Amino acid sequence: MTRGLPSPGTIEIVPSILSADFARLADEIAVVASAGVKMIHLDVMDGHFVPNITIGPPVIAKLRKHSDLLFDTHLMISEPARYAESFAKAGADNITFHIEATDNPAEMVRRIHNLGCTAGITLNPETPVESIGKVAPLCDMVLVMTVHPGFGGQVFIDEAARKVIAIRKIVGPEVRIEVDGGIDSETAPLVVSYGADTLVAGNAIFGQPDRSAAIGAIRAACKRRPA
Ligand code: DX5
Ligand code: ZN
Repeated sequence: MTRGLPSPGTIEIVPSILSADFARLADEIAVVASAGVKMIHLDVMDGHFVPNITIGPPVIAKLRKHSDLLFDTHLMISEPARYAESFAKAGADNITFHIEATDNPAEMVRRIHNLGCTAGITLNPETPVESIGKVAPLCDMVLVMTVHPGFGGQVFIDEAARKVIAIRKIVGPEVRIEVDGGIDSETAPLVVSYGADTLVAGNAIFGQPDRSAAIGAIRAACKRRPA
């Protein structure tokens, strides 16, 4: 069974396991599940598209047995089309790939949909909005990278986040716009004011001793006006 993205109009906080204890992943996911999140963000890195290596389908397949949360799978890999089926079979629900990693993004979206998953397109901080102009309306989600992909705990790039404003005009209210990188209680209200509704946070959640309180703090911050 593939889980659909939450209906538009809600703000979702999506913990990224990149900053979690990788030796205790199932427990870490259970803790954030009990804090009421609907989605978990799985960062897949291949050491080629980005200068870091994380997890692949076997780990996701094992986690699938421990969690009913929506698996929001962020592929930071070259040749994503080669691996889409493996991730879908492992239990990914939403599959997001980089515009910089594919020559035929529309075909990749079709492939993901044919696998029964929802599809996301993402772009790096330096990649212009125009590059995703055609494919974005075909997607269920657009992910705006607000740091250079590869590592958790980096500083938020406001100039990249502002692309959300233009993307919201292109896709309208139905497509989820996710931001990823440097999201915390300070930056969350800012990205919400730009039009983002899906907020990935790694270090701001798993870098804190009390994960539930950290999620609560980001949620509360989203209701504030940006500083
Ligand atoms: C970075 C990853 C992010 C990362 C965000 O390449 O795509 O998902 O976990 O981490 P924070 O929230 O710590 O910036
Ligand atoms: Zn990510």
